[in-house]
Amino acid sequence: MKGIILAGGNGSRLHPVTKVTSKQLLPIYNKPMIYYPLETLLKAGIKEILIIVAPEHAGDFVKLLGSGKEFGARFFYEVQDKPDGLAQAFLIGESFIEEENVAMILGDNLFEDDFNEEVKHFSGGARIFVKEVPDAERFGVAELGPNNKVLSLEEKPVQPKSDLAVTGFYLYDSTVVRKAKALRPSVRGELEITDLHNLYLQEGQLGAEIVRGAWFDTGTFEAMFAATQFIRDKNL
Ligand code: TTP
Repeated sequence: MKGIILAGGNGSRLHPVTKVTSKQLLPIYNKPMIYYPLETLLKAGIKEILIIVAPEHAGDFVKLLGSGKEFGARFFYEVQDKPDGLAQAFLIGESFIEEENVAMILGDNLFEDDFNEEVKHFSGGARIFVKEVPDAERFGVAELGPNNKVLSLEEKPVQPKSDLAVTGFYLYDSTVVRKAKALRPSVRGELEITDLHNLYLQEGQLGAEIVRGAWFDTGTFEAMFAATQFIRDKNL
C-alpha cells in the first residue's frame, strides 16, 4: 500500500496566519500539523508517501520532511497548482500510484486510532472511515445500514441523514485513478471526493468503518486548540 498526504489548500479559515505559511506547517502542541497524519501512515506500515503541496510552500515542506530517510520511509512531492478538490490528488498522483492500492490522508486530520489492521486486510474497492459528530452538516455525511453497509453519501447536506462524518483517511484500490478521471467539477468548482466515493458505491465496492478514538479536523482555530490540548493531555 502506498500513501498520499494531501497538504495543499487555501487555509482561508486560518487567515491571517495562513497568508504567510501553510496550515499544515502550523503547530499542534509541539509538532507541525502534518506530522500527525504522517505518523498515522507510518504506524500503518506505509513507507512510500507522496506529499501534495501548494506551490507557495513547497520548499518549506521539503525543508521540514526531506527525503523521508529520517522517518524510515521514502517521500515524494508533487505540487497542486490550485486547490481544485480532494479528488484531484489521484490525477496528480497517477504516476506515483501505478497499479497499487493507496491510502490517502488529509494533512489537517489528526487521528488517535491506529489503522494498521485495516491497511493490512484491505482487499479492494474503497473504504471510508466515519465518526459521530454533533455538526455533521459541515462534512461529507454517510448513512450506514446493517454491517456498516453504506446506503448513501452526501457532501455538506443541509439536513444530514446521520451524524456520521466522513473523516480524512481513505483506502482505495488502483481503479481510483480511472474513477477520478471520470469526475467533473461540482458547483463549487472542485473535484469532490464524495463523487468519487459514490462511483465506488454504485459498483457495490464501498466499505465503511467507525473511527473509535478521537478525530480532529484541525482546519479552524477552535479545532487546533482542542487538538493541541488533546495531544498535551494524552502525552502523545
Ligand atoms: P479544507 O479544510 O477543506 O480546505 P483548506 O485547507 O483550503 O481550508 P479553508 O476551507 O479554510 O480555506 O481542506 C482539507 C484538507 O485538504 C487540507 O489539509 C487541505 C487539503 N486540500 C488540498 O490539498 N487541496 C485541495 O484542493 C483541497 C480542497 C484541500
